[in-house]
Amino acid sequence: MKTSVLVTGGAGYIGSHTLVEFLAAGYHPIVLDNFCNSSPGVLRRVEALTGRSVTWREGDVRDASVLDALFSLAREQGAPVECVVHFAGLKAVGESVAKPLDYYDNNVYGSIVLLQAMERAQVRRIVFSSSATVYGEPRSLPYTEDHPLAPTNPYGRTKAMVEAMLADWCAADPGRTAVNLRYFNPIGAHASGQIGESPRGTPNNLFPYITQVAIGKREKLLVFGNDYPTPDGTGVRDYLHVSDLADGHVKAVEYARRARPGCFAFNLGTGRGTSVLELVKAFESTTGRTVPYEILGRRPGDVAQMWADPSAANELLGWRASRSIEDMCRDGWRWQSQNPDGYV
Ligand code: NAD
Ligand code: UFG
Repeated sequence: MKTSVLVTGGAGYIGSHTLVEFLAAGYHPIVLDNFCNSSPGVLRRVEALTGRSVTWREGDVRDASVLDALFSLAREQGAPVECVVHFAGLKAVGESVAKPLDYYDNNVYGSIVLLQAMERAQVRRIVFSSSATVYGEPRSLPYTEDHPLAPTNPYGRTKAMVEAMLADWCAADPGRTAVNLRYFNPIGAHASGQIGESPRGTPNNLFPYITQVAIGKREKLLVFGNDYPTPDGTGVRDYLHVSDLADGHVKAVEYARRARPGCFAFNLGTGRGTSVLELVKAFESTTGRTVPYEILGRRPGDVAQMWADPSAANELLGWRASRSIEDMCRDGWRWQSQNPDGYV
């Protein structure tokens, strides 16, 4: 019998890549997405890529009735949901400062409604999309999971709040398991070029901005600061291939199914830092495209550098990021060049 997983936000950037990995691993993913930052066309691409059909419903994670219906559907099909993988949420740091209540509503209240529905359906395992942003200003690097949580913006606080809520939820019932995955910086796209990141409007993040400059949609990259205490003065991050991150979710669900119950957190990163200018150079040499750039002042709220200690995920989840920066650039460029306007 197949194992069903409910995937909230499964049509998004990370969710869509994760569907591919779940299907390859023999799981039956059931997607709930309100398409506020994606479209059903993404799921058709996943189907074409995998040769498998994807069960999905359009709906909001804050809508208890749609959640109840999906848990019932899985039961009626003979494969009750064993684990929820919860991607659905808003993710733009700057927007969270301007519209904090939207973030608390979607990310925190949405998680409450989801957990309540899980209780009704007696589903006791969840894998949650947390973020390295929960750590805030690094006291020491690399970040280990016991680094204090001190997020510096409303988005990060929603992630830390949900993590705290999941700890309480697990403590209230010895049969419950929550796995908080603290992602570092996912970039790139599936190696097929069929699915990738499709930001609406001006990209907030570095990598999609680079690919849009390379394809001529934007004139030049704006580099936010070259006076950080880093080797070349530009910000350093732990970039990981989105397909490696996707695979981490399969490993996390397997862990949730086999480990003793409880609440766990894992860093998902490579353990290596790359600066903005190093990423630009790697992109140029891998793709043969030129990325003109201009140095501006620092972006408010940015930390100079951050990277993960992924050893807990390596050892306990049996997960390791295997793809290189060159793989990330090559695959991200394949997606951008084959789909200049993203999913349209
Ligand atoms: P995304 O915006 O591409 O995907 C999120 C998906 O959730 C979208 O398809 C969106 O339509 C859907 N969604 C949003 N609110 C919803 C709701 N209320 N009900 C149903 N569906 C809803 O983002 P992503 O990059 O794939 O990120 C997925 C998760 O990972 C998010 O929770 C994000 O905060 C977290 N995360 C992302 C990054 C990153 O760099 N991309 C880093 C750390 C954490
Ligand atoms: N940067 C530029 N120019 C740009 C965009 C970014 O120079 O146009 C620089 C930033 O200053 C930073 C680096 O590129 O030094 C990476 O910036 P991103 O915006 O790509 O990534 P962040 O690390 O700032 O944040 C991202 C997500 C957060 C998440 C965090 C950790 O946006 O939501 O990774 O996972 F929490």
